[in-house]
Parts: sequence; structure tokens; C-alpha cells
Amino acid sequence: MDISVLSIFPKMFDALNESVIGKAQEKGLLNLQVVDFRDFTTDKQNHVDDAPYGGGAGMLLQAQPIYDAMSYLDNENPGKKRVILLDPAGKTFDAKMAQSFAKEDHLVFICGHYEGFDERIKDLVTDEVSIGDYVLTGGELPTMSMIDATMRFVPGVLGNNVSADEDSFSHGLLEYPQYTRPADFRGKKVPEVLTSGNHEKIRVWRLKQALKKTLERRPDLLKTIELNDEEKKLLREIHSEM
Ligand code: ADE
Repeated sequence: MDISVLSIFPKMFDALNESVIGKAQEKGLLNLQVVDFRDFTTDKQNHVDDAPYGGGAGMLLQAQPIYDAMSYLDNENPGKKRVILLDPAGKTFDAKMAQSFAKEDHLVFICGHYEGFDERIKDLVTDEVSIGDYVLTGGELPTMSMIDATMRFVPGVLGNNVSADEDSFSHGLLEYPQYTRPADFRGKKVPEVLTSGNHEKIRVWRLKQALKKTLERRPDLLKTIELNDEEKKLLREIHSEM
């Protein structure tokens, strides 16, 4: 997959050379290009921002450097692109959106700064996306979060037997608790069922724990998924135990 990022802080994206996303780049699963749109400014001081018409606090990113950086990308790689503008007022990012981004050939992220951008930048954009109801100082960290979450759905990025489809949020339930050696750590013991070797009992225990955790922490998620008969029975058990 090709991912291009327009940012005036390109060094921040060095973080994506590490860990799983770094490996994905080495394996050729991700071709990441970070373009500093300050390189496309036309004035002596290389300004990318200016004051808003009509007055008001703060500065806005100007349209021209972003338009010219996009033209540069289109000349270099003329294919179809999904162009994502990072904006706290955008649609909230989630696992479904990450899965849909993962199916694209080329994503472009435009990272804003200051108080916002000239509205005309939006004519270049296919999606306006936020990572949550809080405001960050720029779009770089949201972009990195989205690239990470998206790449997990690209086949081959996670290890051979690992699938992002089995994570929390993909099947709608939060993850059950997990333990590794030793079975007794400073008096804190692993639940007995997990060392019983009974795979069916372990499966049911895990499912029940996932349901319980979701009910306690994110009851809103339970309303969005269709529970099967076994899950409904376990949920009744959980309610009667509470
Ligand atoms: N830029 C600043 N805050 C943001 C947020 N919450 N999501 C996306 N982009 C942003």
C-alpha cells in the first residue's frame, strides 16, 4: 500500500520506522512517503499560514502549499487516492474505518496545525476524520495512529497466525484476560481453568470473561452486535452473578 503524508513536521514520522510498521516497510507492504508542504511555499519566509478573513484569533493553513503538494503527488503517482484530512470536527475513526482504509491502494493524510485550514483545502479531500473528542496540537499523532491501526488489517503485516479481525472491536467484544508463566506469581494465581488442559472449558471461560468485561466497561458495544444463543445464556449467568 502507498501512504503519503503532507506535514510540516516530517521527522515525527521517523517513529513509523520502528516495530511492526517499520517491518511492514522493510517487507514492502507499506511504501511511506512524507512530504513537507513547506517546500511548496512561494514567499521568502516560507509561510504556510495566515490570519483568517473576518478576524479572529490564530492562524490558518493556506490552500496554496497544500494544493501544490497534492499536484506533486498526482504527477508522481497519478492513481486513485483516498485523501484524509485530520480534523477534530471529522467523523470519528474506528476499526471499521481502518478496515476500509486497508483496502485502498493509496492513502494521503493531510496534517493540519494552528487554528485550522482554509476551507478550500476540503475540495481536495475524500474523508475528514478525527481520532476522538479532544484537540491535539497537530494532525501528526492522529495520522500515525490511523496508519498503525490501518496497517494491522493489511495481510502479512501481523505475524503469520495473528489476525487483526480477532481483536477487540473487530468482533465487537473486549479482549478476555490473559496470563503467562509462572502460574503463581507472588501469590497471584492464574485461574485454574487455564491450566486444566480442557480446551472447551477454556473457550467458554474466555467468552464469558469477554462478555463480562464488555458489559462492565463498554455496554454500548453489546448493543451493536448480534449475540448467539450461547452468548445470551452466558450474559444471563453474568447478570445473575452480579
Ligand atoms: N487535529 C487536532 N486534533 C485532532 C483530532 N482529535 N483528531 C484528528 N485531527 C486532529
